[in-house]
Amino acid sequence: MAGYLVDDTRKVTTHRLFEMKQSGKRIAMLTSYDYTMARIVDGAGVDVILVGDSASNTMAGNVTTLPITLDQMIYHARSVTRAVNRALVVCDMPFGTYQVDPQDAVRNAIRIMQETGCDALKLEGGVEIIPAIKLILDAGIPVMGHLGLTPQSINKFGTYAVRAKEQEEADKLRSDAQALSEIGCFALVLEKIPAKLAREVTESIPIPVIGIGAGGATDGQVLVIHDMLGMNQGFSPKFLRRYANLFEIMTDSIGQYVTDVKSGDFPNENEQY
Ligand code: KIV
Repeated sequence: MAGYLVDDTRKVTTHRLFEMKQSGKRIAMLTSYDYTMARIVDGAGVDVILVGDSASNTMAGNVTTLPITLDQMIYHARSVTRAVNRALVVCDMPFGTYQVDPQDAVRNAIRIMQETGCDALKLEGGVEIIPAIKLILDAGIPVMGHLGLTPQSINKFGTYAVRAKEQEEADKLRSDAQALSEIGCFALVLEKIPAKLAREVTESIPIPVIGIGAGGATDGQVLVIHDMLGMNQGFSPKFLRRYANLFEIMTDSIGQYVTDVKSGDFPNENEQY
């Protein structure tokens, strides 16, 4: 099967990702939110599966990632971990579960780990959330950081435009990345920032940096699975490469089914008992 890593079925760990960075091997990461998709994604050789809070958009049809709840993220992450053998599974901590009180953050983090069986958590933000990240790390839970365009802060930004183009925001991103690396995050996502800045950050910290709309110099790439498979017709940012047009394939297939049912062609003699 294309892309299936038959010779490399060892479970991906945070340590292995670190080694991949050191040896210059690129990391492939994609989102998944359900069992069937995660099975395909894992089988195709993706190294890291992110149960992203983008489930709020792709699975629930919300405009932003803010409405998704802890219970809903746990449901999605549990469905994914049931399917996965090889990939490292990272679950997003949803909006409101780690920003208020570090003690609450670690309680919520423990709940996600216990109830889903995922391998690590991802939190959006820099120095502001270091106390929460520290407690979560102290509980033995690996944390992936996320800087640049952080969709949980969309109401503060007011736009999905490229972040950190100006000096001040770029400087803050640099120092946030340093701080997340120094405190012990095992990896960092950089979303929608200039490629030059992403390269600089990638080269300045020892942990793997995974980019989305951050150019080709990061240690790996992540995309939302519905976008890269062409299931969302209306979303086409510059950074997105579409590997299929599932919207068209699915619409045609379903349309054909409707035609066959209505014409009496389905089921035929061989499709009945
Ligand atoms: O929720 C998500 O899908 C993400 C990726 C865009 C990195 O955070």
